[in-house]
Amino acid sequence: MIALGIETSCDETSIAVYSEKEGTLSSKIFSQAEIHANFGGVIPEVASRNHIQKIQPLYEECMKESGIKEKDIDIIGVTNAPGLIGALFVGVSFAKGLGYGLNKPVMPVHHLAGHILSAELSYPDLKPPYTALIISGGHTHIFDVDKALNFTLIGKTIDDAAGEVFDKTARVMGGPYPGGLFIQNMAKKGDRLKIKFPVAFKNEPRFSFSGLKTSVINTINKGEYSYEDIAASFQYTVAKTLAEKVFAVAESMKRDKIVVGGGVAANEEIRKVFNDLKADKSVFFPEIARCTDNGEMIAYAATRFYKFRKFLNYSGSAYDTKHSIGIL
Ligand code: KG4
Ligand code: ZN
Repeated sequence: MIALGIETSCDETSIAVYSEKEGTLSSKIFSQAEIHANFGGVIPEVASRNHIQKIQPLYEECMKESGIKEKDIDIIGVTNAPGLIGALFVGVSFAKGLGYGLNKPVMPVHHLAGHILSAELSYPDLKPPYTALIISGGHTHIFDVDKALNFTLIGKTIDDAAGEVFDKTARVMGGPYPGGLFIQNMAKKGDRLKIKFPVAFKNEPRFSFSGLKTSVINTINKGEYSYEDIAASFQYTVAKTLAEKVFAVAESMKRDKIVVGGGVAANEEIRKVFNDLKADKSVFFPEIARCTDNGEMIAYAATRFYKFRKFLNYSGSAYDTKHSIGIL
């Protein structure tokens, strides 16, 4: 089976072709990060407009590179939720038009299911059941994924996502947006045990990062500690909190594999702490390039979900989670 994957949920326009037989034939990403960096965050209207401009040329480039013909596409996978509504509209409308024109089924893929499944692209022997953690600018969610590919939400953040706190901390330190890499680099020269930051909901599978965010900002403003020590201690607190909660969920669900995805999963300290604490569990992080938003994970997810035969009606809408595949 050959799948086309379309991703436009936030500030990356991305299209990919994935073949079950040959793997990824092409994966094109246009990142708007530089455009939004000027504003210190993603501006939804600007994101939608850039998706509109980029999606067609990106599709043409992707098809050319893949070497396949349009008639060879078996399924079109598209992120239909969650994300910025105007941004999702662009991808979903494009997918529906293409599907209608080519007479191909369109599969609405849940963005987080795409992130989780992308680990299988990096580790071909990896298959569910596993516990999955998605950490990004908008999400901090733990899912259980069973053998039949059912996704069950176990716990999530009640306020800020992990990535948001990295971005906010970087901003208060005068760093760029997004700020994850800035914090990671700043932390390299710091002492991760120097400052004890608060951890919410100890021993529960849900998260709250707003208390940590306030504490970090107050510490920065007090000027008592170096930015390096603050960054290192903050980053270690996040890494340890994520790892402890996810390992506890895996243990209680009797899962021996843990998958971590989303933009924040690129973080070196988080990878290190997970590997240090994993004990008898196996931990799977996708390659860094696969952690951020991409169409490849959506194309791959479409092939994995094909068996459910749940396709988008041509009058179907974006952000209709009732109709996205993977997570309800
Ligand atoms: O998944 P993603 O590309 O976009 C969505 O939010 O969906 O994640 C972006 C987030 C940003 O908050 C960014 O600061 C964070 O991922 N991030 C990192 C690192 N690289 C990106 N956070 C910590 N360490 C990193 N190395
Ligand atoms: Zn994402």
